[in-house]
Amino acid sequence: MKLLAITGSLRKESLNTKLAHAAAKLAPAGVETDIVTLHGLPMYDEDLRAGGTPAPIARLAAQVRAADGVLIVTPEYNFSIPGALKNALDWLSRLTPPPFAAKPVAIMSASPGMLGGVRAQDHLRQILFGLDARTLTRPQVIVGSAANKFDAEGGLSDSTAGRLVEELMDALVGAQGDMHASSFEEGRTRRQPVRVVAGGGGVR
Ligand SMILES: Cc1cc2nc3c(=O)[nH]c(=O)nc-3n(C[C@H](O)[C@H](O)[C@H](O)COP(=O)(O)O)c2cc1C
Repeated sequence: MKLLAITGSLRKESLNTKLAHAAAKLAPAGVETDIVTLHGLPMYDEDLRAGGTPAPIARLAAQVRAADGVLIVTPEYNFSIPGALKNALDWLSRLTPPPFAAKPVAIMSASPGMLGGVRAQDHLRQILFGLDARTLTRPQVIVGSAANKFDAEGGLSDSTAGRLVEELMDALVGAQGDMHASSFEEGRTRRQPVRVVAGGGGVR
């Protein structure tokens, strides 16, 4: 099984990139996790897209498509997600077939602040809903006061955070093929895809 972890921070000493590495280590045995950063992506530009998908975007799209599940680990910038991550998601949202459609996705965030990036997670969930991803709901991995939660080698030193990261990685791996069902409710009822028809036009 192959997972892709995308970090929303470009910073060398990023707490979120450290968290992505910790998550990769805590994934179940036999799972291979590639970690990618979003360096070098052009800004979304409709005119640029009209000339063909830029190579770094096509590469990222191929990585997402090839992954059995995607982990996004992101900082919170001004109560939302960083522009670099939004830019990448905007690009991927315009490709056919859509790389995130029906893709199991887990999200995590880390911040030196006490709230751990929870507001960024809310925004990210909303965006992933638009991308038709199957975003896991539990457990929520929100690492607050994160500057104190990594050791000198960059490993996660907080046992509670470590347990939750491990649980979420288990859930991401276990989500394969079952993502039309809720990952939260007992009973796991199958749901039909929803189509909303508004103003005479179909909205997918
Ligand atoms: C532009 C900017 C906006 C920020 N806004 C928030 C915020 O809204 N909430 C928060 O908890 N931290 C905020 N921070 C602090 C980041 O959480 C902190 O810089 C963190 O270390 C970034 O993640 P990284 O270590 O993975 O790069 C902001 C930082 C920057 C640079």
